Amino acid sequence: MKGIVLAGGLGTRLNPLTKVTNKHLLPVYNRPMIYYPIQTLVDAGITEILIVTGGRNAGDFLQLLGNGKAFGLKHLDYTYQEGEGGIAAALSLAEYFVDEDLVCVILGDNLYENSIRESASDFVRRGHGAKIHLKRVENPQRFGVPIVDGDRIVKIEEKPTQPKSEYAVTGLYMYDSTVFDIIKTLNPSSRGELEITDVNNAYIERNEMTYAVVEGWWSDAGTFDSLLRSNILVANQSWNHSEEIPKDAMHAFASLLRYQ
Ligand code: DAU
Repeated sequence: MKGIVLAGGLGTRLNPLTKVTNKHLLPVYNRPMIYYPIQTLVDAGITEILIVTGGRNAGDFLQLLGNGKAFGLKHLDYTYQEGEGGIAAALSLAEYFVDEDLVCVILGDNLYENSIRESASDFVRRGHGAKIHLKRVENPQRFGVPIVDGDRIVKIEEKPTQPKSEYAVTGLYMYDSTVFDIIKTLNPSSRGELEITDVNNAYIERNEMTYAVVEGWWSDAGTFDSLLRSNILVANQSWNHSEEIPKDAMHAFASLLRYQ
């Protein structure tokens, strides 16, 4: 299975932090944000990885990541998204790279505490269709939200004002190569983007969607508060001694944030 990290978009919700740099280059504790999704793919055993980026700072990714040596990779691929046409538009640029293979897509601002290796292996064994990863959250209206009927996902609604479940569709998606045919049929949403939620709904309509619930914490980092939350959760993992912040205080803070 191939891996794609989507790191395009303008990150306007983080202005002025993103005025002169790309959101995915901002720090999350001791590493740039994009390190985390790349590491998640590598930990799942995925070694062929394409980074989709855009904007004025695209060159900085090359300088930062090179051929992926920091992750034990021999090579990284890059492509450039013009403008901000949406997550599905960014993914469509990966068609040449994925070819007939399966693909694991991760959003460049999504961080997962636990390995996704088992979920990826399950999907590879199945070999077709799509798989999404859900997490129970306190503020589902900020995310894609599934409508669940028993064990089945009936539909996903993007940022509903009245969410029909307590789950968020997190930024980790697995697809077969028919995803690119689906994207070609999409129309831009009211926010002018090709939505990944419309891609997922197409798989649901075909009865080809499966899902897993994420264990451990999950956080996106695309707003000031979620960026702060991500920093604390990651810091808490790496902390043994700090002379600057009392350890107990950090652990207490992190455990409050753990399940949102
Ligand atoms: O974080 C999970 C959520 O991500 C999902 O629950 C939603 O269903 C999904 O639509 C998405 O929502 P956001 O509004 O948070 O997406 P955002 O516009 O912040 O984009 C997330 C990442 O996708 C961003 O860090 C980089 C990539 N992206 C986004 C756009 C709009 C691109 O590569 N190109 C783009 O044009």
